[in-house]
Amino acid sequence: MKALYICDEKDEWGYIRDSFSNCFPDIQLHCAISGDDAIDLLSFEGPFAMILIEVSLKNEDPSQLAGKILSITGQRPFIFLGMEAMVKERIPDALYARSESSSALFRPIEEEDFVTAVNKALAWVKSEDFGSSIEEFEEDDLLPMKIRGFYLFETLAYDVYLELTQTKYTKIISANKKYSHSTIHSYARKNIKVLYLKKNDYLKFLEEGIENLLKVFESKKKLKQEEVIENQIKAVLLIHQYVKTVGVSENVINLCDKVILCSRDIVLENKKYRNVLSLFPKSGPFDIATQAIMTLYLSHFILQALGWASETSKKKLGLASLLYDSMLENEDLISIQSLEDPQLKMFKEEEQENYRIHPIKAAEIAQYFTGYPEADFVIAQHHEKPKGDGFPNNLSTNKLTAHSCAFILANNFILRLCTSTGGKKNLLNIFREMKEVYNQGNFKDPLNALQRTIV
Ligand SMILES: [Fe+2]
Repeated sequence: MKALYICDEKDEWGYIRDSFSNCFPDIQLHCAISGDDAIDLLSFEGPFAMILIEVSLKNEDPSQLAGKILSITGQRPFIFLGMEAMVKERIPDALYARSESSSALFRPIEEEDFVTAVNKALAWVKSEDFGSSIEEFEEDDLLPMKIRGFYLFETLAYDVYLELTQTKYTKIISANKKYSHSTIHSYARKNIKVLYLKKNDYLKFLEEGIENLLKVFESKKKLKQEEVIENQIKAVLLIHQYVKTVGVSENVINLCDKVILCSRDIVLENKKYRNVLSLFPKSGPFDIATQAIMTLYLSHFILQALGWASETSKKKLGLASLLYDSMLENEDLISIQSLEDPQLKMFKEEEQENYRIHPIKAAEIAQYFTGYPEADFVIAQHHEKPKGDGFPNNLSTNKLTAHSCAFILANNFILRLCTSTGGKKNLLNIFREMKEVYNQGNFKDPLNALQRTIV
């Protein structure tokens, strides 16, 4: 079990460290020199069963710091240390005197008071089942869930783990206990991409998430356009994970229908693709799910500019957008532009093979959907190129349908947009680059439509 001590006077660390090793040798103490340092430790070294804060901190307000920590960790016992007058001046009564788990320790600190305060915190820890926070699992016991999925809930019926080493995990969300989204955010900021669930819980999590989103899409409540897009992105995230691990279910088909259908109002209300783009999160990284929804809207706008915006066409390219990269096992592969891309060699051999066949595997998934004729062809062809130098089937422009050409352009444009440094200001430059490659055969008309769409 770990405790965190925040104090900007290093000389004090030894005394507290000794007190723990004398009275509570099982508790490992980590010391932080500042609030920022503490927040880093919370993300990298946590979970901490209790937090000790020196109230004489020079550069920050200790009670505000406690509030900030609480928003990251959820409820946790605090021990405030300092001269009695200063504790009373800087810490509201409610944070220690009336708390069931937190305390204040007045200097000079008596060992007896120290033991009482730590025991009070430990009583809370015990009731929270905190002691077993580091657990060992075999490789197959847990499955990775993308971190973004955890923004869908505030409590879960399952425990959620963070990977420490290949076999060691620490529980960061306890079943049926409220967790804060800022905790999830602090892990995401540290570039943690997945959290882990036990195998059986994984499937329940996905199903519950899909049902939740269906309820949102079916509700009569009018959401802001940004919220609709955020929900569409979340839906793609769950759909991809579901089709990859389980397959296609009635609810997955239903959710795809809803995601495609609700883009219609946003297209109507915004008139221009540029306006729709501004509803997306402003800065990257633009993950696979975000790119899918950006492609969905761009392909609808291109269809409209071509005068082909029939329901069937929109559904066809709509489903293609939701599924084209669904079978990629490693999300980092989305930035690869062709089989000749030197970056591809940096991936494991099985990942490279997965990349080569992902269009075919995703097309197979699309075949389970009724009411989406030829979406599977469009998906299978999303990496083909005009001269036949694409993959997987080296089809040249006269072998590709006009719908496939429109989709290839939409998808390729989004991929370039999301990986270019100029961001959204760069639309015309990206178009010019693409024109050099795609201005031939069946690509010509959709390319002109793309130009009209982005200006
Ligand atoms: Fe792809």
